[in-house]
Amino acid sequence: MVVGLLVVLAQLKGSSSTHLSTDFYKKSCPKVFSIVKSVVKSAVMEEKRMGASLLRLHFHDCFVQGCDASILLDDTSTFKGEKTAGGNNNSVRGYEVIDHIKLKVEEACPGIVSCADIVTIAARDSVALLGGPKWKVKVGRRDSKTASLEAANSGVLPSPASNLSTLIQKFKDQGLSPTDLVALSGTPPARSKNSENFDNAYFKNLKAKKGLLHSDQALYSGGSTDWLVELYSRCHEAFHKDLVAAMIKMGNISPLTGLNGEIRKNCRRPN
Ligand code: HEM
Repeated sequence: MVVGLLVVLAQLKGSSSTHLSTDFYKKSCPKVFSIVKSVVKSAVMEEKRMGASLLRLHFHDCFVQGCDASILLDDTSTFKGEKTAGGNNNSVRGYEVIDHIKLKVEEACPGIVSCADIVTIAARDSVALLGGPKWKVKVGRRDSKTASLEAANSGVLPSPASNLSTLIQKFKDQGLSPTDLVALSGTPPARSKNSENFDNAYFKNLKAKKGLLHSDQALYSGGSTDWLVELYSRCHEAFHKDLVAAMIKMGNISPLTGLNGEIRKNCRRPN
C-alpha cells in the first residue's frame, strides 16, 4: 500500500514538469506494453481493419482537447461526449478493444495506467502490425474528467471536403506541420485502396489523381504539398521517417500530466 503510494507520488512528481517519457511505467507497470500489444494483435488478427480503426481513434482523440481519452467517455442522461460528433458518429470504432486492454492492464496494475496512454500505445502497435514503422512511445498522459460534444463539433476535426489551406491550418492549430499532415494522411490503409499493406500506395494514388476524398486529393493538386506526395510516392523510407516524427508529435498534443486529470478505472466514465 505504502510502496504503491510512493510509486504514484514519484510518477506525479516526474510528470509535473510536463514531460512524457518512455519509461514512465517502468517500475509501476512494466507489463503494460506487452499487454497492449497482445490484445491489439489478437484484435487485428480477428479483423485486420481494427488496426486502422485504433489509429483513427487516437487521431480523433488527440485533435479534440488533446490526447486525454476524452473520446472514450460514454454519453449519459446528463452528459453528451464526443462519440456522436460529426466525424465520430457510427464511424470511429475500436472502443471495445480499448475496454479489453484496460481490463487486462487493471488486472496487472490497478489504477496506474491511463486510458489516454492505452489509446496511444494501441495506435503505435497497430501501425507496426500493419507493416508500418516502429518507434518507442512516450507515456505518462492522464485522462480527462470531461469531454464536450461542442468541442468535437467545433471544426477541429478536418472534413473530407476541406481544401489544402484549411487542412494545413487545422493541423497548424494542433502544432502540426504540413509535412505531418501529409505523412499522417498516408497512414489509413482503408483510404489507400490497399488494406493489405502499410505502404506508400496512398501517395501513388494521389499522383494518379485517384485520391478517395476531396481532402486526400487536395494534398496533390498543384499546391505546396505536391513535393511531399512526390517524395513519399518514390521513397518509402522518407514516408516512414516523417510518419514516425508526426505520430510522436500528434501523441504529444496537450497531454494532461502531473495532478491534472485522473487515471480512469473504466475508460468509458470518469471515476
Ligand atoms: C486530413 C484530413 C482527414 C480527413 C478529412 C479524414 C477523413 C476520413 C474519413 C471520412 C474516413 C472514412 C470513415 C468511415 O468510413 O466511416 C477516414 C478513415 C480513416 N482515417 Fe482519416 N481523415 C483525415 C486524416 C487522417 C489522419 C491524419 C489519420 C491518422 C493519423 C487518419 C486515419 C484514418 C484511418 C486509419 C481510417 C480508416 C478507419 C477505419 O477503417 O476504421 N485520417 N478518414
